[in-house]
Amino acid sequence: MKLKLVIAGVLLAVGLSAGAQTIIKFSHVVAADTPKGKAAVFFAQKAGELTQGKVKVEVYANSSLYKDGEEMSSLQIGSVQMLAPSLAKFGPLGVKEFEAFDFPFMFDDRAELHKITQGPVGAAMLAKLDAKGIHGLAFWDNGFKSFSANTPLKMPADYKGKKFRIQSSKVLEEEIRSVGGIPQVMAFSEVYQALQTGVVDGTENPISNFYTQKMHEVQKHLTLTNHGYLGYAVIVNKKFWDGLPADVRGQLEQAMKEATIYANKIAQEENDLALAGVKKSGKTTVYEPSKEERFALKKAMAVVHIKMADRVGKETLQEFYKATGFDPAKL
Ligand code: LMR
Repeated sequence: MKLKLVIAGVLLAVGLSAGAQTIIKFSHVVAADTPKGKAAVFFAQKAGELTQGKVKVEVYANSSLYKDGEEMSSLQIGSVQMLAPSLAKFGPLGVKEFEAFDFPFMFDDRAELHKITQGPVGAAMLAKLDAKGIHGLAFWDNGFKSFSANTPLKMPADYKGKKFRIQSSKVLEEEIRSVGGIPQVMAFSEVYQALQTGVVDGTENPISNFYTQKMHEVQKHLTLTNHGYLGYAVIVNKKFWDGLPADVRGQLEQAMKEATIYANKIAQEENDLALAGVKKSGKTTVYEPSKEERFALKKAMAVVHIKMADRVGKETLQEFYKATGFDPAKL
C-alpha cells in the first residue's frame, strides 16, 4: 500500500513537472528555408534556451497546421499560440492601417521600410491588435515582390486581361485592376497548383516564396518589378501571453528580439539566394525591367494610392509618406 502511494506520488510529480512545460505552437504557411521559416526555428531554439526548457516552441511550416485563411481565427480562439502572418492579412481582420504596407511602390528600400516597422508608427500599429485579442511582438522582413506569368511582363499593357493570384486584400485587388489585370484571391498553399493548371496566369511574391514553392517550375517569366513589400508581424494570442509568468514572458521577449535581428539580417540574403536558384534552374526567364518600364508600372499603379486612401486612413498614410517620401500626386 505504502509503495503504491510512493509510486503514485512520483508519477504525480513527474506529471506536474511535465505539465510545467508550456507548448507554443507556431504556425506559418511558407517553406522552412525562407526568411520566416528560418527565423521561426531560430526563435524556437532561443526560447528553449532562455527559458531553460520551460517553453517548447513547435514550428509548423508550409501550412501543415493551418492555411493562411484559417490562421488568424485559430489564433484568436487559442488553438494556435503564435503566427507570423504577412502584413496583408491584418486588413481583413479589421485593422485597416496595415493595408498601407500593401500600397504599390510605397517603399524604395528597406531603410524606408524600417522607419515604419522599427519605429513608433509600427509600434502603434501593433498595439492596435490588442482589441482583437492579439498581442503584436515584432515585425519580420521578407522582401519586395515581383510579378511572374507565362508571358513576358514589361509594360502595364502586358498585364491586361491576365488573372493574377493575390492575397485577400482590397488594396492588392486595386493594384491588379490598375494595370487591367484580374485579381484572384487564393490561399498561398494553392498557388502552385493554380499556376500549373492555368487557373491563374501569374502571381506576385518575394523571390524566396516564389522559389521555395517551386513556382519557377510553372511560370515562364519573372520580372523583377520590386513593386510592393511583403513582410510579417509576429503575433500571439493575447490571453495566452498575458497568462504566462512574467519571467518567462521576459525571456520570450528577449528570444523574439534576437530572432527579429536574425530575420531582418537574412531576409535579403535569402531572396538573393532564391533568385540565383531560379536563374540556375533555367526554367523561368528572369527579366530586369528598364527604368522606363518600371516607372510606367509605378505611374499606372499610383491610382491605388488615391482610390484607397480613405480605406487606410489619411493619418496613417501621411505617416508612411513622411517616412518614405513617396508622393502619388507627383507621378
Ligand atoms: C502569401 O500568401 O503570398 C504570403 O502571405 C505568404 C507568406 O509569405 O506568408
